[in-house]
Amino acid sequence: MSDKSHNSHQDVALGTKGIGVTYGKFVALADVDLAIKQNSVHSIIGPNGAGKTTLFHALTGRVRASSGTISLHGEDITNTTAEERVQLGIARSFQVTSLFPTLDVHENLRLAAQGKTPWAALAPWRSAESNVTAHETAEEIMERLSLKHVHSRAAGELSHGQQRRLEVGMAMASKPRVILMDEPTSGMGIDDIEEMKNLIRDLGKDHTVLFIEHNMGIVMNISDTVTVMRAGRKLVEGPPSVVRDDPEVQRAYLGNMITGDIA
Ligand SMILES: Nc1ncnc2c1ncn2[C@@H]1O[C@H](COP(=O)(O)OP(=O)(O)O)[C@@H](O)[C@H]1O
Ligand SMILES: [Mg+2]
Repeated sequence: MSDKSHNSHQDVALGTKGIGVTYGKFVALADVDLAIKQNSVHSIIGPNGAGKTTLFHALTGRVRASSGTISLHGEDITNTTAEERVQLGIARSFQVTSLFPTLDVHENLRLAAQGKTPWAALAPWRSAESNVTAHETAEEIMERLSLKHVHSRAAGELSHGQQRRLEVGMAMASKPRVILMDEPTSGMGIDDIEEMKNLIRDLGKDHTVLFIEHNMGIVMNISDTVTVMRAGRKLVEGPPSVVRDDPEVQRAYLGNMITGDIA
């Protein structure tokens, strides 16, 4: 992590300038600037209603931004549709529904690597992998996600934690430019949380990961950068050590979520 942070010219994978979202007259998101560095783990935190999920919806194109611009590797994607953003490599993980429940783990990953899932199939910058390459990709990902021992089990029969990891694997197999996760550890038991934490940290070595998370232990442990939001705006941003000690953050969270929860 430290050698990455020394590189001040690191590429911005996903960026926003002055992004805002309104629902009717209600301002859910206002004037948010983001620069998500390539191959980094960037977390978004903030109390309920802070606008975190709305920000994700604006990034994925599910919700139209009422102001501001969004760029992907320097290319303006503000006016693209949600489908086009998937094609451009903005992958959203954490949707267990996108697994094929009757197919085994290996087959799910192999199909995703071959571009046979809705989002992977449309990735225009890469040609579909051959059978052999897709098999290798599936093997690599199973290894990385600690799913090798269940490679021949139907996805629908996996434990909840294993399904959530497989879902991340499906996103990885499509070789996306950015992976977004909205509260990837929600509803998980302690062992699954630990595995997901290690997985996200590992993912950040060669992927760009943007995730919303309530568990402060995870956030402070694995993030290169933390963005704190409150009432639709960015409150503070920086490395975990800076964010943790920021008086504004302390005030915003006191007695709320940081207390006793920081690692
Ligand atoms: N579709 C919607 N219509 C109206 N208000 C919404 C809608 N979605 C979210 N909001 C409001 O926008 C604010 C931010 O919500 P959200 O982005 O879900 O916050 P967070 O994910 O940080 O908890 C909340 O006050 C919420 O009630
Ligand atoms: Mg939310």
